[in-house]
Amino acid sequence: MNFSNVNRELFSFLDHSPNSFFAVKNMCDLLKQAGMTHLYEGMPWNLEAGRGYYVTRNDSSLIAFRIPKADYTGFQMMASHSDSPVFKIKTNADIEVDKQYVKLNVEKYGGMLCAPWFDRPLSVAGRIIVSTREGIETRLVNVDRDLLIIPNLAIHMNRQVNDGYKFNAQIDMLPLFCDKGRESDTFLKLIASEAGVSAEDILDTDLFLYNRMPAVSLGLNNEFIASGRLDDLQCAFASLKGFLEAKPGDSVAVHCVFDNEEVGSVTKQGAAGTFLRDTLHRINRAMGRTEDDYLMSIASSFLVSADNAHAVHPNHTDKTDPTNRTYLNKGIIIKYSANQKYTTDAVSGAVMRAICRQADVPFQTFSNRSDMLGGSTLGNISQSQVALNTVDIGLPMLAMHSPYETAGARDTAYLIEAAKVLFSSSIEGKGDGSYKLKF
Ligand code: CO
Repeated sequence: MNFSNVNRELFSFLDHSPNSFFAVKNMCDLLKQAGMTHLYEGMPWNLEAGRGYYVTRNDSSLIAFRIPKADYTGFQMMASHSDSPVFKIKTNADIEVDKQYVKLNVEKYGGMLCAPWFDRPLSVAGRIIVSTREGIETRLVNVDRDLLIIPNLAIHMNRQVNDGYKFNAQIDMLPLFCDKGRESDTFLKLIASEAGVSAEDILDTDLFLYNRMPAVSLGLNNEFIASGRLDDLQCAFASLKGFLEAKPGDSVAVHCVFDNEEVGSVTKQGAAGTFLRDTLHRINRAMGRTEDDYLMSIASSFLVSADNAHAVHPNHTDKTDPTNRTYLNKGIIIKYSANQKYTTDAVSGAVMRAICRQADVPFQTFSNRSDMLGGSTLGNISQSQVALNTVDIGLPMLAMHSPYETAGARDTAYLIEAAKVLFSSSIEGKGDGSYKLKF
């Protein structure tokens, strides 16, 4: 495994993916480069065995798949998410302050750590909808320069701040945009000029802040990495690389990346939506298979829900479970929760361990402390659409949901190797509790 090459590619992907729209666009570019065919939900699909395809929904979720043969066994899938907690720019963003400054009105998307958003260069990226002669059209915009800052209040004006502070999103978190100069200096004008359209042609926007700090390696021996959006683009990247590098097996390999995990997944493009179910059904029909064939293939399918996980924090070692302790660079984390916040059970945990052993990569196990509630993820949510054996895993990280998170320099490569095994394998299940694993 060449860890530094993997990280170089990962960093480029992270730096060019300020939010879900760009992450999906960059993954589409890599799939296209690899010779896969772009399908559209609004057009007919003519699928052939031996080929690879990809389809997006809302330009922010993606499913790529490779069909090895018409009589495939099942679907071997990995799902991650494209979104991260962030501040969204509200409509009518400009707020004038004392006729001197203009700041931007923003609101929270997801549950972020607020403090690390202060005092660092930020910018804006997302999509705009412009009117055209035929109707409307989506354009991606990234103001690729240091543009905004959310300044802290000086300690002299808030003496108790280091004893704990409650952030008010409407008061504390609004970024400074410009001096109040000309009437024409509006936020929408800037976005229009970046997109090469006139402000009047912009009908609506989905624009988000992002941290300008690029991804880096750090630690005495460069054993750590830090970047924005490691949760969950690190897993999305590893899943894509594994998908592209895997040898075809007996099952359809499916790489899924869903938007809106950070806000509960209940959107048309989220894991609770029909995107995966619709796509698997279309594959089934396109290959001339019956509904019974579909249900039998689901019984012989496996889903790896890949979303980053907490490593033991060096300053807060007591926050982790006493016997399931996870560390950076110690491999893929299999997550357990009795209440099924994580989908892992004895069967899917065993299959994942077998995959890691076959890939020759280390793995570790995670449970929340029994007196602490953890987060949840997309694995259990997607079950309401496509119910099948699923395991929840992730890569170990620190400072989850900060705009600058820390992870291990070796773990991405481990997940790529495991993904390669997953996407080449098949798991035959009759429904009697035994499974034939074919690697
Ligand atoms: Co996540």
